[in-house]
Amino acid sequence: MALSKKMPKTLCVTSGKGGVGKTSFTVNFAIALTRNGNRVLVVDGDMGLANVDVLLRLSVKNNIRDILESGADPRQALILARPNLAVLPGSSGVPEMVSLGEKQQNRLAGLIQTVSSDFDYVIIDTAAGIGSSVLWYNRFADHNIFILSPDPTSMTDAYALIKLLSRDHGINRFNLVLNFVRGVREGNHTVDTIKRVTQRFLNLELSHLGSIPEDRAVRQAVLDQVPYIEQAPGSKASRAVHDLADRAHTLI
Ligand SMILES: Nc1ncnc2c1ncn2[C@@H]1O[C@H](COP(=O)(O)OP(=O)(O)OP(=O)(O)O)[C@@H](O)[C@H]1O
Ligand SMILES: [Mg+2]
Repeated sequence: MALSKKMPKTLCVTSGKGGVGKTSFTVNFAIALTRNGNRVLVVDGDMGLANVDVLLRLSVKNNIRDILESGADPRQALILARPNLAVLPGSSGVPEMVSLGEKQQNRLAGLIQTVSSDFDYVIIDTAAGIGSSVLWYNRFADHNIFILSPDPTSMTDAYALIKLLSRDHGINRFNLVLNFVRGVREGNHTVDTIKRVTQRFLNLELSHLGSIPEDRAVRQAVLDQVPYIEQAPGSKASRAVHDLADRAHTLI
């Protein structure tokens, strides 16, 4: 009997609000997963203002948009960024890609499926906001990870997107990662608040995967274009991201 091929787990990293740490989380979490023996593909789904290549200091030849337009083999666009870590770069400065038509959506699904088969995890970093590509990537993925900061505007935006995804797109499982946490108490308060409102008004249970502290090492690593998990492996943020990767099997 032929062994069936294991399908990759597809994760969508999203937030509603901009600048809460989606791209930094995606890149460092992906590297942490490779250290646990996984093969990981990062898809830069920010199709207006791509950033994954910047954080990893990659030189991009072809991006998702080029492949969608040319119909070329999408494997041509993959960049091997680290051992067991590949990146499918996004497009920058092309506003029309932020809004995806149905034909493009089908082609995008085919494209990602073609390049995904050799990986254990496919992690999609999305744009801020609630544009059509953000909604589509959230529908496409097996697991949704919301990055949240303790800022009330981050909570409001995350809640608005969760409401939209559950009401109009049938998604009812969400994982939370709290970022920019300055203390256990602040973190717990934020998690309790969003869990309470989603339970009360949307009848949804959120799963808290874990938290990442506010850490100067993160900002410095972005400036140096080196992932903090490599540049500052002993930093609080790096240790937190390793813990999150160790719990990846608990994603709902
Ligand atoms: N835990 C942290 N501690 C300190 N600074 C952080 C942390 N996480 C992210 N940052 C900083 O916040 C800024 C925004 O991070 P990032 O680009 O990952 O956010 P984003 O959600 O992807 O933004 P966008 O919505 O624009 O795509 C970066 O300069 C990064 O250095
Ligand atoms: Mg980003």
